Amino acid sequence: MKSPLVLLVVVVLAVIGLSGSARAACGPNARCPADASNYLLPHPNCSQYYLCNHGTACEQNCPPGQHFNSYHRQCEAPETACCDIYIPCNPTA
Ligand SMILES: *[C@@H]1O[C@H](CO)[C@@H](O)[C@H](O)[C@H]1NC(C)=O
Repeated sequence: MKSPLVLLVVVVLAVIGLSGSARAACGPNARCPADASNYLLPHPNCSQYYLCNHGTACEQNCPPGQHFNSYHRQCEAPETACCDIYIPCNPTA
């Protein structure tokens, strides 16, 4: 009668591991306008941004190789997004 317990432990550990890595990275954010939906905010990581819906922000990833432009509020090539100060910045209008 040992294997059911072992199985349970494995399942519990797997669930904990999954919820840790796939942490839904959503939460209240004071910079999200309470009345706005699908409002994008810059993230400390240039490859990511926050998607706001009614005061709650969820972390999102830009498409691979793109950075978030906080002026245009969209993901762009790093050279025009001007997020990473170590990448030459050629902003578009
Ligand atoms: C920024 O986010 C990307 C995409 O999730 C990730 O691959 C990268 O490691 C992150 N960089 C830092 C400095 O956290």
